[in-house]
Amino acid sequence: MEQVIAKTEEFVKREMSADSTGHDWFHIDRVRNIALKIHEKEKIGDPFLIELAALLHDISDEKLHSSKEEGEKKLTSFLSLLPLDELKKNQIKEIIETISFKGGNNRNITTAEAAIVQDADRLDAIGAIGIARAFAYGGKKGQPIYDPNINVRTSMTNEEYRKGHSSSINHFYEKLLKLKEKMNTKTGREIAERRHLYMEEFLHEFYNDWNGKHQ
Ligand code: ADP
Ligand code: NI
Repeated sequence: MEQVIAKTEEFVKREMSADSTGHDWFHIDRVRNIALKIHEKEKIGDPFLIELAALLHDISDEKLHSSKEEGEKKLTSFLSLLPLDELKKNQIKEIIETISFKGGNNRNITTAEAAIVQDADRLDAIGAIGIARAFAYGGKKGQPIYDPNINVRTSMTNEEYRKGHSSSINHFYEKLLKLKEKMNTKTGREIAERRHLYMEEFLHEFYNDWNGKHQ
């Protein structure tokens, strides 16, 4: 088991080292650690499956590959090399598929492992690290940190998003401030609470500074 984890770590490090959109090895490592911590507190799910799924959760991400299919192939071919039974391999794939489903939250979370890894991934998108990742991502995409002409409280269509008519501050309203309510576990919700407050404070200060208050 330990060998499987070590081999997976090595593979993920190699695959994700070049990414600067917030999808780097350190993101994976944080998600793994926080997922295991949630598991310890909640006492649900299989820690081995949780750890492997956390390590592999972004491997098939479209952003790292030329197509969705290519990403899925990457995950499948790596899993096929592992000395695990088919049932476990399928469980890992299923966990990753349920949590990485983009474009909505339509995919129901049906296992404790998926619930935990999804919470961990979402926790890494909020709080201090979430703030840093949002601006890193925005910078890479060439979007402004903030644009007062973009109505931050109005939802944009996915189309507008893709065209880049957004700002990193806008992303907080589109996604980050909504994550607290979407936590699957009690432990996840508790951690999210603190991180959420920190983002709200950050935004408050951001607007104060932007508007030249308190100087
Ligand atoms: P993951 O797959 O790890 O959940 P995503 O691929 O959705 O994350 O995004 C990676 C990081 O980039 C996250 O921290 C997310 O908040 C941030 N991000 C995604 N889209 C935007 C955006 N339009 N503007 C700013 N940050 C973004
Ligand atoms: Ni992730």
